[in-house]
Amino acid sequence: MKPIQIAIDGPASAGKSTIAKIIAQDLGYVYVDTGAMYRAATLAVLKAQIDPQDEQAVSQLVPKLVVTFAPGEDQQEVFLDGQNVTAAIRSQAVVEHVSVVAAYQTVRQVMTAKQRELAQSTNVVMDGRDIGTTVLPQAQVKIFLVASVKERAERRYKENQAKGINQTETLAELETAIKERDYLDSHRALSPLKQAQDAVKLDTTGLTIDQVVAKAKALIAEKL
Ligand code: C5P
Repeated sequence: MKPIQIAIDGPASAGKSTIAKIIAQDLGYVYVDTGAMYRAATLAVLKAQIDPQDEQAVSQLVPKLVVTFAPGEDQQEVFLDGQNVTAAIRSQAVVEHVSVVAAYQTVRQVMTAKQRELAQSTNVVMDGRDIGTTVLPQAQVKIFLVASVKERAERRYKENQAKGINQTETLAELETAIKERDYLDSHRALSPLKQAQDAVKLDTTGLTIDQVVAKAKALIAEKL
């Protein structure tokens, strides 16, 4: 039987990974965080002291990288060439440069191929920006998750606080950074962030995680 593919796309900090993780766990599907893959590539670029603006150098490095996932105690762990980078890929330096690195053709080709491979033989819940449009256009369920930028910034701020992350950015700065990343992701030439024609938009502004999960599950039940 053809594996089931659930695609969850949307702008930064819309709650995609939180929702995708819960749904994957409940359904017993594999969760694939494609943003983590672009973040790991960006971390590798920075570690190699390559200028993220240098497309040629970035394009030479990224195909050589091995990015893998493994279940951790309370979250999925991300590995770059065998090294655990789960925390490092969330750093501000990575966030600042990821949209530039993710816009390059070679980077997108490499990541898209890996993502398709991961979805080939097992049921997946995959979240990102271009899953419904480019990576898995045949996905049986496509959800486009949105929320007001104000609420997305507030959620991220609270999440960082709860995780004990030393926040150097104010809430207003966080909001600006989110807007900038959305702008870059939506305006790039290749696979920009946009709702697939056959995706269902879910606005999570003012909703709790449980409410969003319930809505997403109702949608999945309708489609599968
Ligand atoms: O989802 P997350 O915020 O971790 O994604 C980090 C960045 O990776 C995005 O801002 C975007 O530039 C890039 N990305 C992408 N395509 C995806 C997933 C993420 O270009 N499918």
